[in-house]
Amino acid sequence: MEKDPVTVLVTGAAGQVGYALVPLIARGVMLGPDQPVILHMLGIELAKEALDAVKMELIDAAFPLLKGVIATTDVVEACTGVDIAVMVGGFPRKEGMERRDVMSNNVSIYKAQASALEKHASANCKVLVVANPANTNAFILKEFAPSIPDKNITCLTRLDHNRALGQISERLDVHVNKVKNVIIWGNHSSTQYPDASHATVTTDSGEMSVTKAVSNDQWLKTELIATVQQRGAAIIQARKQSSALSAASSACDHIRDWVLGTPKGSWVSMGVYSDGSYGIPAGLIYSFPVTCEKGEWSIVQGLKIDEFSRTKMDATTNDLIEEKSLAYSCLNE
Ligand code: NAD
Ligand code: LMR
Repeated sequence: MEKDPVTVLVTGAAGQVGYALVPLIARGVMLGPDQPVILHMLGIELAKEALDAVKMELIDAAFPLLKGVIATTDVVEACTGVDIAVMVGGFPRKEGMERRDVMSNNVSIYKAQASALEKHASANCKVLVVANPANTNAFILKEFAPSIPDKNITCLTRLDHNRALGQISERLDVHVNKVKNVIIWGNHSSTQYPDASHATVTTDSGEMSVTKAVSNDQWLKTELIATVQQRGAAIIQARKQSSALSAASSACDHIRDWVLGTPKGSWVSMGVYSDGSYGIPAGLIYSFPVTCEKGEWSIVQGLKIDEFSRTKMDATTNDLIEEKSLAYSCLNE
């Protein structure tokens, strides 16, 4: 018997990430090959024609799993009955900018859309914020939608996680699926801490730590970290537009693992509400290593944190605390 459809909202669906993301959702990449979906796409008046064209293309692609499409500029219509909300709408940074430089344009969008989601989405709607500054937009959404459970509001750091896996796989010349358990701690900004100290790689002789396989602690502590921190900027410099296909694919990974579960023995990175684990102030939306089961994420506990990691984790915490006050000052302007 066919499953009931799941309704997925994508805001900013006429933009670059949205355009790469909606066909993946309609093909079952996000929720599985047997899960029918209904897509709600929200745009703004200025991009309405482009949004309508995305709807036309979705119809033309004749996706077997796609049971309905709404393209609208009405936030209430867009949010009504949604089970999963992927919040991409907003403005991307340009060359030479930090992600927080788009703060004043974007946080007000998240304040406004929070109450529509709170009032009109399904009671257990899972929210993924992609638009930058992703952690702080998610934080603002959480603040202005107090009845949405804290556990349901997350932000995307899976792209950074996948970037770290990609860099290690290139360095070791192994397929990326042989590498696991990297961690992105903190903010999706240039202060994030990509940590490979708990990561492992599967070789012909079994599983070993990435630290041992790379046998160059300096590379892990300098080049890997800087490359992942600056990868978004490198894409912008090369493409003159920010990442889109990798962002869309990682957003699917984030939701798929959250809903369907992480494989045994593996964790992934998600920006989630801090409960104080690892000394991170409660209430910040901070990227942690998490495992997921039955639609719930849990922060991986008990990992050893050395002094090097502590310093980096604290630096990205401070960045988030600063962003939070900057966000409030933008909202009060
Ligand atoms: P884009 O400019 O191509 O598309 C954004 C779309 O959002 C546009 O169509 C715009 O009309 C729409 N929009 C603007 N205000 C809106 C509102 N109030 N409601 C609904 N839609 C609205 O940008 P993009 O390249 O698709 O990037 C989108 C966002 O995602 C940016 O903030 C970018 O920085 C961010 N991003 C984050 C990650 C991540 O890993 N977290 C990765 C890539 C991009
Ligand atoms: C990315 O990491 O590619 C996105 O956040 C876009 C950006 O501004 O870097």
